[in-house]
Amino acid sequence: MKKYKAKANANIALIKYWGKENEELIIPNTSSLSLSLEALYTETKVSFIDSDKDKFYLNDQEQAKDELEKISKYIDLFRDLAKNNKRVLVESYNHVPTAAGLASSASAYAALATALDALFETDLSKKDLSIMARRGSGSASRSIYGGIVEWEKGQDYESSFAKKIDNPGLDMAMIIVLVNKNKKSISSRQAMKTTMATSPLYESYINHSKEDLEAIKEAIKNKDFNKVGEITEHNAMQMHATIISSNPPIIYFEEDSIKAINKVRELRTKGIPAYFTMDAGPNVKILIQKSDADKVMEELLKDYKESDLIYSDIASEDASVEVLEC
Ligand code: DP6
Repeated sequence: MKKYKAKANANIALIKYWGKENEELIIPNTSSLSLSLEALYTETKVSFIDSDKDKFYLNDQEQAKDELEKISKYIDLFRDLAKNNKRVLVESYNHVPTAAGLASSASAYAALATALDALFETDLSKKDLSIMARRGSGSASRSIYGGIVEWEKGQDYESSFAKKIDNPGLDMAMIIVLVNKNKKSISSRQAMKTTMATSPLYESYINHSKEDLEAIKEAIKNKDFNKVGEITEHNAMQMHATIISSNPPIIYFEEDSIKAINKVRELRTKGIPAYFTMDAGPNVKILIQKSDADKVMEELLKDYKESDLIYSDIASEDASVEVLEC
């Protein structure tokens, strides 16, 4: 029986997606823009099984009922599309250099969508793969591509998908500072809902992120790394201000997040361009120029252990799939 193995990279947003216009279809309130990271990826194998239930293994561990149900519901989208009711064995591996709490739903659903497309022979275009990945997790729509990726908000099922943005030669890389390796306390899915329902700043975030997106695309075109960095920082902090102002407040910052942010500022005072961003968790991601990587690492290693830092180049490859004969 044929088995397919797909690979997709995780991505970090420079302009953040936060909140849904349509929860069921995962249509966002804003467009967003991200970098796909080479060092963090998911590999997922899928095959048909003779069973009345799907099976789901993550990092070789069979997953319990809740996780299985989530995945089965997702596979139903492909079963419907292919008019094929067969059950599936899913074996997924998150490749993260350490047990970092960085396991990403973005790379997971991008890899799963890519693998299922091959298994069910649905023959989807990149655009449709992005749409299907989006149905699993919004940010997964962007992990279909390597490089710089924009997820256009769109207005309905068909028009909300990601596409690659041309990189005119901007020199970029990322370093993740692992502040806390545990699972995040409140999921982004839940936190988005609370923010939308209760934060008085939410509308302002939506409006400003539109401006940020236009400005960052312009800065990318102009190969203006500092501008890209400034917009990235400001956008992330606008998102966090909005999240913090939810009721009850949601705070992803920890003391060590602030420490890492200050370290990034210190790098800048030393003349090294570096900018921070944060997602729905306390880890700090630092945007740097690849050509500065050694210098930045040297500075960071004065305060951090090597195992608390993950360096990543920007992924150049899109999500891909290969056939494994069993
Ligand atoms: C802060 O894509 O994980 O990382 O669509 O509910 O699965 P769901 O949310 P998810 O949210 C990502 C939020 C973010 C910003 C971003 O990646 O754009």
